[in-house]
Amino acid sequence: MYNLAKFEQRFGTRIDIRVAKAEDSQNIFDSQNKAFPTDPTNLSIDKIHDFTDQKEHTFIVGFFDDEFAGYVATHSKKYYPWVNGNSLVVADAYAGRGIGAFLLREAIFSSQKLVMRIFVEKNNYRAIRLYKKFGFLCIQCIPRHYENGDDALVMIKWTFLVNK
Ligand SMILES: CC(C)(COP(=O)(O)OP(=O)(O)OC[C@H]1O[C@@H](n2cnc3c(N)ncnc32)[C@H](O)[C@@H]1OP(=O)(O)O)[C@@H](O)C(=O)NCCC(=O)NCCS
Repeated sequence: MYNLAKFEQRFGTRIDIRVAKAEDSQNIFDSQNKAFPTDPTNLSIDKIHDFTDQKEHTFIVGFFDDEFAGYVATHSKKYYPWVNGNSLVVADAYAGRGIGAFLLREAIFSSQKLVMRIFVEKNNYRAIRLYKKFGFLCIQCIPRHYENGDDALVMIKWTFLVNK
């Protein structure tokens, strides 16, 4: 399990994480489409642009040596007790350096809800391993949830009780 307070020690200091601005929309859009080329729920660039200005949507972007490396998107609906972790993407060129972990940590810290909920493909071992290192628990498997027929795991985590 990660110690969330010691990420700089664990992953170094070349990673920068910040809330996305409208001008990050193109990078987010390209990154989304590269990671999920056939996903019918992909956002248009206009939607991403609009969402960067909306309270219920959060985009957080990650940079490695000042180069765009990935993003995480969350969505919280007013009357729901959880925030949805909608998308977490790190470019292949920057994989395995802790950027996914940094992004997810920031999404958890910035959550206004008690619980974060994510859907992940059952065979996406890399993402599942990352979520487990944060203490996400699998609470449900939804058969054939995705367009390609793959099952989805639903994973949740408390967003308080984190060791900042
Ligand atoms: C999942 C993803 C975001 C991980 O990003 P990342 O920046 O490479 O991950 P990190 O460097 O933060 O690694 C964090 C953990 O991921 C796992 N991981 C990273 N590289 C890995 C590899 N090559 N093989 C297996 N696990 C790996 C490890 O658990 C690692 O932690 P550890 O090194 O402390 O053991 C990235 O692979 C990605 O964008 N995948 C495509 C999009 C996707 O599937 N997103 C998730 C949708 S639910």
